[in-house]
Amino acid sequence: MKSLIFATNNIHKVLEIRAALDGRFGITPLSEAGIDQDIPEPHDTLEENALEKSSFIHRLTGKNCFSEDSGLEVDALSGAPGPRSARYAGESADAGENIRKLLQEMKDVADRRARFRTVISLILDGMEYRFEGVCPGVITMAPEGQGGFGYDPIFIPDGADQTFAHMSTQQKNKYSHRKKALERMITFLLDRL
Ligand code: IMP
Repeated sequence: MKSLIFATNNIHKVLEIRAALDGRFGITPLSEAGIDQDIPEPHDTLEENALEKSSFIHRLTGKNCFSEDSGLEVDALSGAPGPRSARYAGESADAGENIRKLLQEMKDVADRRARFRTVISLILDGMEYRFEGVCPGVITMAPEGQGGFGYDPIFIPDGADQTFAHMSTQQKNKYSHRKKALERMITFLLDRL
């Protein structure tokens, strides 16, 4: 099976993307490629951070690879936390702390519209290609559900009646920003690999 290096150490992302690929081709996460370095995400946009990660791994391995950068963009917070989603409540904040901070910022906010956005940066034969996926939805008033990761317990995608944290990976992939970006990359790759 054809395989690409996936520039992440986030096991949740690996599981979601493997489920979405459904065997169409393989991915090798950094841990399985023997790479244990932390890749910097220093920029203010998902696009620049995704490119930073894919080019870092491409320089290191010389192999075809892809990365993705995702964030939650809340309308009432002018698109925050956005690219800072993982570190919203501080450099080493965990998901619970990030959620608490977001709900606190939104405690009197009636407009709860938000979206998850993913940008994939693929480096194939030395060229970079980008693919985007967006999942619109709303922020709940309190966490609901135990599954998933990050902001899953406070996000209900449009068309659903429960948070991502209540869904199986397969259910989440019906709505997911990451899955939409991935499908665009797969369509592109199937023509080329
Ligand atoms: P990064 O793409 O690894 O920089 O992570 C971005 C951060 O956005 C994650 O740590 C999560 O906090 C959040 N995030 C990205 N995608 C999702 C998702 O599908 N569900 C919940 N939170 C997410």
